[in-house]
Amino acid sequence: MKERETFASRLGFVLISAGCAIGLGNVWRFPYIVGQYGGAAFVLIYLVFLVIMGLPIMAMEFAVGRASRKSVLASFQELEPKGSKWHVYGWFGMAGNYLLMMFYTTIAGWLLLYFLKMAKGDFVGMTSGQVTDAYQNLVGNDPVIQLVFMAIVVLLGMAICSRGLQNGVEKVNKIMMLCLLALLVVLAIRAVTLEGAAEGLKFYLVPNFDNLMYDAEGNFRLGEAIYAAMGQAFFTLSLGIGAMAIFGSYIGKERRLFGETINVGVLDTCVAFVSGLIIFPSAFAFDISPDAGPNLIFVTLPNVFNEMPGGRLWGALFFVFLFFAALSTVTAVFENILACWMDRWNISRSKAVLANLILIFLLSLPCLLGNNLWSGVKILGMGIMDFEDFLVSNNLLPLGSMVYLLFCCLPARYGWGYQNFLAEANQGQGVRFPAPLRWYYTILLPLIVLIIFVMGYIEKFF
Ligand code: ALA
Repeated sequence: MKERETFASRLGFVLISAGCAIGLGNVWRFPYIVGQYGGAAFVLIYLVFLVIMGLPIMAMEFAVGRASRKSVLASFQELEPKGSKWHVYGWFGMAGNYLLMMFYTTIAGWLLLYFLKMAKGDFVGMTSGQVTDAYQNLVGNDPVIQLVFMAIVVLLGMAICSRGLQNGVEKVNKIMMLCLLALLVVLAIRAVTLEGAAEGLKFYLVPNFDNLMYDAEGNFRLGEAIYAAMGQAFFTLSLGIGAMAIFGSYIGKERRLFGETINVGVLDTCVAFVSGLIIFPSAFAFDISPDAGPNLIFVTLPNVFNEMPGGRLWGALFFVFLFFAALSTVTAVFENILACWMDRWNISRSKAVLANLILIFLLSLPCLLGNNLWSGVKILGMGIMDFEDFLVSNNLLPLGSMVYLLFCCLPARYGWGYQNFLAEANQGQGVRFPAPLRWYYTILLPLIVLIIFVMGYIEKFF
């Protein structure tokens, strides 16, 4: 049997796991949700969820990956008690990875296109209305150019993965992550030194609980805000679909897993936090409402850069930064998908790449066309992109996280067994997993996850 690939270095493992976590969730979703829910107070709640929920679940994913040395499709089979059905979840996990990519590739394509447009100076001299029209025109009326850029993203992601774990995914992600961190710092310094930035910093950093509890019309919305904070914690760490577990399967036993989880969580949080430091001061400095919503970066930021001295350069840098963040997630999730194919069907990496290049390109088409030619298609009242996002974010991530939680914490008769999980997580040097909190992982945490799930449904449909 072929020997499993491993990372060349610990830094590679931490940066690629962080790269999988760091993506649109940090640089696009986090700022606009923080803007919608009133700023700093929301950030505090989000941080609490990252710690009490995100970190233990991520450590469990890494442990399942490392102990089984397999991808999500095959890992449960290796560890479950004989006769049990945990392995069925593998197919849902794999579907979650595909679904995530089915809309991610289109948005990543927009980011690449915006980078080029910025660099070419396409937005120079446009009024704010013209910038909005340009965005709507692209998304609504120009499937061909979107198709080209989506295809470039799929090709680029697969080309990186085709070079193997160490030479492709690890090397490129390491470079991208380091560039991203450097770019972040430069852009944040530029943003916080803008004239008028102080108001934005206050909004982002000084908690105002009234802003969190009440919306602009004075309606009470604390429950909704808490739900949004929990959902964001799942999304940003890519939990529940084995996207993290795969990287556990490529590492040795030298380090305890909770310490590595903390490193990844801290990096992910830093990127989200600094993205806010870029966006809020800029938005306030140029009179843009922080609750502009999901279009924030595409519709409003080109205006910001238009009015900023050297804006073409800063704008191009900003969009290349967004693109790196998205591409790091794309390559990490592609790697997971390829590993599923290689583990399950025992085929070579190049065959898996070829098959998935075609498959993911085709699977990305509904989302891309859903904004224009197929805009009439509605599923449960949602457009195609929203429906795909709903399936992943509101269903597979929370339910999959619950699967990992129960699998690791139930007694060995029913699942993997808590002692087996602890033995795996605590092998090596570093921070130990907080073992005495088993009651919390087995009862309270699944309950919290269940509440998110039910609240998600109520919010969406009632
Ligand atoms: N964790 C990924 C992101 O934040 C899905 O975009």
